[in-house]
Amino acid sequence: MKKILVTGGAGFIGSHTCVELLNQGYDLVVVDNLLHSNPKSLKVIEDITGKSLRFYQADIRDSKSLKAIFEAEKIDAVIHFAGLKVVNESSSLPLEYYDNNVSGTVTLLQVMKAFGCKNLIFSSSASVYGNEAPVPVSEDSPRSVMTPYGRTKLIVEDILTDLFSSDDDWNIVMLRYFNPVGAHHSGNLGEDPKGKPNNLMPYVTQVALGKLTKVYVFGGNYDTKDGTGVRDYIHVVDLARGHVAAIQKLKDQSGLSVYNLGTGKGSSVLELIQEMEQVIGTPIPYEIVDRRPGDIAVSYADVTKVQKELGWRAEYDLKRMCQDAWRWQTQHPHGFAE
Ligand code: NAD
Ligand code: WQD
Repeated sequence: MKKILVTGGAGFIGSHTCVELLNQGYDLVVVDNLLHSNPKSLKVIEDITGKSLRFYQADIRDSKSLKAIFEAEKIDAVIHFAGLKVVNESSSLPLEYYDNNVSGTVTLLQVMKAFGCKNLIFSSSASVYGNEAPVPVSEDSPRSVMTPYGRTKLIVEDILTDLFSSDDDWNIVMLRYFNPVGAHHSGNLGEDPKGKPNNLMPYVTQVALGKLTKVYVFGGNYDTKDGTGVRDYIHVVDLARGHVAAIQKLKDQSGLSVYNLGTGKGSSVLELIQEMEQVIGTPIPYEIVDRRPGDIAVSYADVTKVQKELGWRAEYDLKRMCQDAWRWQTQHPHGFAE
């Protein structure tokens, strides 16, 4: 596997993965429609690594453009990040989510098949586990989804399973991410949400910077250590390295596999806020409000399988996640837009 096509490579997780892949000597081709990203991230990837990649601004639903890319480049494997990811938004825009995440993936798979490229890593999500799975959540927990977003991930997992059943020349790794946070250590690459953040970590850093007034903690009466929700936050650089481990696993007849990417450790909302307060040295205002509909109390990964089979484990702790997220936020208060 030498030349990798990274869909959604200008986005948060894709860009960090490009850095790790270039550092390991892979040739990269990125395709992204830039709907939710800024091409400056691609320049930063090249600055950090001192290596170049080729970029095509295209939509994965556009098979003509994809075919032209596969004609021009001899792609060995695809890491497929491109898609829409805002859980709440998916309930009001289900068709956009099915179109982007499901139809887009089918188009990509058709083009890959036409060009004989049958090596794929797919960005799935812990959201496929729904609200019933006992913790730590293992890969064989039953899947159940609560939102159109989660269902797009579940459907694509099923499509990939059917594809592999029909043709075992495919080599497929499905990675279920828990809660990716943090930023590249340089402080020049990070999460750049448009408008008010939906996720906790960027919300906390924006409050800490004074862009937002306080953190609204969604629920203080869960059955958890301090009453607030518990999640498995994972540093985005660790997550990116999980993809390098997965690429190394892809080889002829490596089959279809699924792995959790998490740390295996749960942290509460208040623990994350307190860790960030330690990092920045000032209090972060917060208020406990009603639970957010659809949220679960506790979710963290069983990482036994991924450690054993991919030889990968997360290295960075919550402190490091906060330090790197904060460095990115202070060095780039307006993200890539400044
Ligand atoms: P992101 O929005 O930062 O990146 C996604 C990228 O895909 C963006 O650059 C966007 O412009 C591009 N894109 C979207 N639709 C496209 C299309 N039709 N054609 C071409 N490009 C398109 O998101 P992210 O956080 O980097 O997430 C990457 C993947 O990981 C997504 O599939 C997401 O569902 C999955 N995931 C993310 C999280 C998370 O919390 N960030 C957790 C679990 C899974
Ligand atoms: C974390 C904790 C909130 C914001 C989502 C998706 C999941 C995956 C990762 C894509 C929870 C609490 C949050 C705030 C808060 N994405 N919170 N105040 O919901 O665990 O996971 O992102 O695949 O599929 O569902 O992440 O960061 O939104 O929330 O109190 O302003 O922080 O209730 O306990 P979540 P999150």
